[in-house]
Amino acid sequence: MKMECTLLNNGIEIPMLGLGTYKIGKTDEDVYNAIRTALDVGYRHIDTAALYANEVPIGKAIRESGIPREDIFVTTKLWGNDVVKDEVPQAFDRSMQLLNIGYVDLYLVHWPVKGKLVSTWREMEKIYASDKAKAIGLSNHLLHHLEEILDEANVLPTVNQVEMHPYVVLDDLVDFCADNTIVCEAWSPLGSNKAPLLEEKILKEIGEKYGKSPAQVVLRWNIERGVVAIPKSSNKERQAANLNIFDFKLTPEDVQLINSLDKNYRTGIHPDEIGF
Ligand code: A2P
Repeated sequence: MKMECTLLNNGIEIPMLGLGTYKIGKTDEDVYNAIRTALDVGYRHIDTAALYANEVPIGKAIRESGIPREDIFVTTKLWGNDVVKDEVPQAFDRSMQLLNIGYVDLYLVHWPVKGKLVSTWREMEKIYASDKAKAIGLSNHLLHHLEEILDEANVLPTVNQVEMHPYVVLDDLVDFCADNTIVCEAWSPLGSNKAPLLEEKILKEIGEKYGKSPAQVVLRWNIERGVVAIPKSSNKERQAANLNIFDFKLTPEDVQLINSLDKNYRTGIHPDEIGF
């Protein structure tokens, strides 16, 4: 089944489903193996970050996979401490060295840093101009952060990656991003293992109609609202299952039921409460 892609506002294609890699393995070897199995089962979109401290084994797995570099979409992210220290170019160069894959497809500001939203974006624009990042974007930015940046941006952010799943639906943010040609990406699209999302009866019942698991239903729901999803799994079978969502369609009634699970509940930190 061919992976669906969507176009970023600068003409670059991004696969709708990618692999999240935060805490995907305890050791570099675990991380390496998880990425190799993901690439083997068909992932062509890998999401990492400087914070995850796994750029080295991820880069190695990509290089040794035998898959042409240009066939794999790779994202990494700028950590807030480097913003605080005014060391954005140095942070980018470090990620490039650790990954050692020539370029990144997408470089994201990991979290908003108070008072530095626009100055950080200026640094990101310089990185984009260097052509070592094919696209630049944001992560964990709320509406008010986006508005502040968009007022001043010379280059539009391509992406905003936030925690998003049926417990935190964020319709306003999704609509705002769509109106501004920004693609939303969902991290922890399965609600992480901290929330009992996948035990929800509604998801089980919908899944039964299509022969799909609750996880596959949730991932499909993301894709159908135009949201790119990056579920994490280190397990080959679950990695493959999470990719197997492009052969069924939810009905409007299914979508409404899934939306009804919304309780504005995040498993991770609220972007206004991050301590940078
Ligand atoms: P595992 O790696 O053992 O598959 P995140 O919210 O950070 O994306 O993490 C997703 C969590 O859900 C991980 O703990 C992962 O564990 C688990 N997971 C991933 N895919 C599935 C699936 N299809 N069904 C159930 N659990 C899943």
